[in-house]
Amino acid sequence: MIPFTIDGQSVEGKEDGNVLEVALDAGIEIPNLCYHESVKPYGACRLCLVEVVRNGRSRMTTSCTYPVQKGIEVLTRSEKVLRARRMMIELILAMCPGDTLIQTMAEEMGVTEVRFKKEEKDCILCGLCARVCDEVVGAHAIQFASRGDRREMVPPFAGEAMNCIACGACVVVCPVNVIGMKEQGDERTILRWNRTLKLKKCKVCGNTFAPWFQLEKFREQAKLPKDFYDTCYTCRS
Ligand code: SF4
Ligand code: FES
Repeated sequence: MIPFTIDGQSVEGKEDGNVLEVALDAGIEIPNLCYHESVKPYGACRLCLVEVVRNGRSRMTTSCTYPVQKGIEVLTRSEKVLRARRMMIELILAMCPGDTLIQTMAEEMGVTEVRFKKEEKDCILCGLCARVCDEVVGAHAIQFASRGDRREMVPPFAGEAMNCIACGACVVVCPVNVIGMKEQGDERTILRWNRTLKLKKCKVCGNTFAPWFQLEKFREQAKLPKDFYDTCYTCRS
């Protein structure tokens, strides 16, 4: 384990760890929106900014992307850090002024007005949905498109997300809850990606339990027998 300090408190992190995860584990609050322990850090929201002092030199950096290093001093609440974070949340609030989580975070950080041009977006472009889809699920169903003001998260060719297996992982990780999933009858729809898939019915209990397309994909990948997913997870256990 690698020893260093956060706000004067001695902490330890594992060799390939990052400063944010060590801080959160130690109960030290650092705001964050685009971090999730199941995927690689990406540094999109820049809310997790901290000051790192190393060899007598200080620099501002995103703590989710900064690797733990022996002897560094991390400052999470210096005036410089708080000012920079206020600027970042103000920019996010300008992009998504209607989001209640962002409004609350901004208020907690002392941002009461927005000086930038307001947009009416709902997605904060954190990229978590695509990273989970790529790195955890392996479906590669969505991606960033365009640049600047027009940057957005969409399925390829902006139609139905044909690779989406409707597992709902993106729905769970989206920090502002704008993806949405609906189940009706024997169908599940991932609303934002315009993807509807038929659900498979368990041969034992008769309940629907997962999309056919998803189960077939898992079955092929794991080379499982054809009837492996004829029964649901509950009836099998
Ligand atoms: S849809 Fe949600 S998870 Fe995906 S980029 Fe937008 S805010 Fe992030
Ligand atoms: S949580 Fe670190 S940049 Fe978003």
